[in-house]
Amino acid sequence: MQTLTTHSPLVHSRALGHILLIEIDNPPINAGSAGVREGLLRAIEQLRADASLHAAVLMGAGTAFMAGSDLKEFGQPLAEPQLPQVIAAIEACEKPVVAALHGAALGGGLELALGCDARVAVANTQLGLPEVTLGMIPGAGGTQRLPRLVGMPRAIEMVGTGERITARQAQAIGLVDAVVESVDDLLQTAIERASHLGGKRRVREMAVPTVDPQVLQATKTAVLKAGKGRPQVQAAIDATCMAMTEPVEQALLREREVFQQLRIAPDAFALRHQFFAEREAVRLPSALRAPLRQLQTVVVIGAGTMGVGIAIALLQAGLQVLLLEQDQSALARGSERLAEYYRDRLARQKISPAQAAEQQACLQTSLDWQVLAQADLVIEAVYEDLAVKQAVFQKIDAHARAGAILASNTSYLDVDAIAGVTKRPEDVLGLHFFSPAHVMRLLEVVRGEHTAADVLATAMALGKRLGKVPVLTGNAFGFIGNRIYNAYRQQCEFLLEEGAWPEEVDAAMTGMGMAMGPFAVADLSGLDIAWRMRQAQAAQRDPRQRYVPILDWLCESGRMGQKTGAGYYQYSAGKKTAGSDAQVRALIERASAQRGLVRAPIAAEQIVQRVLVAMVHEAACLLEEGVAHRASDIDVVLVQGYGFPRWLGGPVFWAQQQEPARLQQWMDDLVRNQGFGAQRASAQAVVHLLQTDVAASA
Ligand code: NAI
Repeated sequence: MQTLTTHSPLVHSRALGHILLIEIDNPPINAGSAGVREGLLRAIEQLRADASLHAAVLMGAGTAFMAGSDLKEFGQPLAEPQLPQVIAAIEACEKPVVAALHGAALGGGLELALGCDARVAVANTQLGLPEVTLGMIPGAGGTQRLPRLVGMPRAIEMVGTGERITARQAQAIGLVDAVVESVDDLLQTAIERASHLGGKRRVREMAVPTVDPQVLQATKTAVLKAGKGRPQVQAAIDATCMAMTEPVEQALLREREVFQQLRIAPDAFALRHQFFAEREAVRLPSALRAPLRQLQTVVVIGAGTMGVGIAIALLQAGLQVLLLEQDQSALARGSERLAEYYRDRLARQKISPAQAAEQQACLQTSLDWQVLAQADLVIEAVYEDLAVKQAVFQKIDAHARAGAILASNTSYLDVDAIAGVTKRPEDVLGLHFFSPAHVMRLLEVVRGEHTAADVLATAMALGKRLGKVPVLTGNAFGFIGNRIYNAYRQQCEFLLEEGAWPEEVDAAMTGMGMAMGPFAVADLSGLDIAWRMRQAQAAQRDPRQRYVPILDWLCESGRMGQKTGAGYYQYSAGKKTAGSDAQVRALIERASAQRGLVRAPIAAEQIVQRVLVAMVHEAACLLEEGVAHRASDIDVVLVQGYGFPRWLGGPVFWAQQQEPARLQQWMDDLVRNQGFGAQRASAQAVVHLLQTDVAASA
């Protein structure tokens, strides 16, 4: 007879003969919240006390074993019982417990499984210790038990990078004992394993495999470098290494101590904010939720840099792709880049030959606009020129079927002006991918004045299907990301004019954690793009506005960036050879003199503060204008699309950490310093921005 025992609302158990099946039931991901921990303790007590029971199988109901701890608990004191206590009870119980894994065993979920006597998993289960990506280290023995199963180098990699692996990979390194193909076979296999274990197999009692000191050192160095030397990465490496030097009991206590310190350290708050902000970003406001349109075949127009990247992203997600071009040689170049991408992935074993063949079979190329009739979605990625795009959209309008979604990948142009040339503006929106489009996770979903709710909902769902973080934005020049980036770049130009050199600004920004400095980025992407845009805008510019002409002068002297061997810096074979040279400095000094400024050195700290305040101020303007509809979306855009350091949470989160009166003062200074015509965010917009707490509302 099977009697169901309820240990807490979130954990129940039933006896299957001599085996106790313990089930965690905390939808949607079986997070290891306080109620789960309490229920597990009681279930283990039942196993211990009932003489008819010989062993237990521990599994998760629904879609996962346990995809992590409850992150919302981490900003405050943790409720009892805590996870180490549950794991200690499993280990103290003389009867074996087998963890049966499916879906995900991440963070606390994997630590729980490591506390069991064996692990059986469905082949596609995801396993990993992602704590470090949230600013922490595992705190329930993960750093001590993992190396005993997989050896030091692999454990350091997994704990130090937060890497996730599949159950098959986990079996190959000794983390999982058996793999089954389907979840239907999981319980039976786990029960058999539990019946035949014949006694405890405590991981903590196992010896740590010996390791070559050179391999160990190389692994530590590589992991620290990949983790940008953040304190939690160093702590993860140090904690894991204790497995070789400390008695396990002591190491477990020390690991817990470090975990407790880190979970309330600044990086952890910022990283949790970014985690919740990303989760929130994909949710449309309720007024825009709508049934999705069908989406299987996508026509991508333009086989340039973006068109090819977008095509790859779509193919990876299993969509049918038709790449359409105006000229044969551009199409041939695009096709060759796609083929080259797959050759490279195969050579580096990032994809199996079967997967590559399957994805490439979904690609067709064409010069014939009739193919547009097959599209559920059209993504235009031709030159950034309104007249060119409008002509393309007229052709799309003539050929696409009714109900097809029509998207432009424009970076700056007015989506309504593009939609306006069609007879169906409700089907038109912007899908702003970032380069390289198959790698970058940000996707700005641009809502035009007439864009229908189901078009937006389908676009957001597509973003998720592509593994991206889609963010809804209004249709305004530069949308969210490029608007903020422009404010950032403008501030950096002001700094040049006032006394800083390009390398000082770049060093200050990389010192803060930006992936690259603004002037190195400008040189990389080519100064001529910005130059052309500035020329196009010159007629509308009021001469009283503060305008820094340095970039224009560089272009006029032939310095267009890396591609011409010089821009703000000089280059040889794509590598920067030195800081700014005499010619650049002379141009900068000329700009300062022209504005009547006496140059004075600017400290790195001051540079960073000025730049961040400029971003925050622009963020407040975007919120006020309704271009961004959540403050936290702005942080997602900056972190996922512009190399803003994730461990600072984003500019909005940074602003929330500042003293409000001081921040307001800095913003006033910013507006005053810019002078004539500077936009000023309202005090209400700033208050709104500062009050958003996405983690609390999650
Ligand atoms: P690209 O110059 O590499 O490619 C444009 C392609 O469009 C060329 O192959 C060209 O032959 C084709 N094309 C031009 N007119 C056409 C027409 N009438 N019909 C069919 N094909 C036509 O340009 P890229 O860099 O790929 O940019 C494309 C769009 O993506 C632009 O709107 C750009 O602003 C936007 N974008 C670019 C990013 C970047 O980093 N390159 C980032 C995000 C957006």
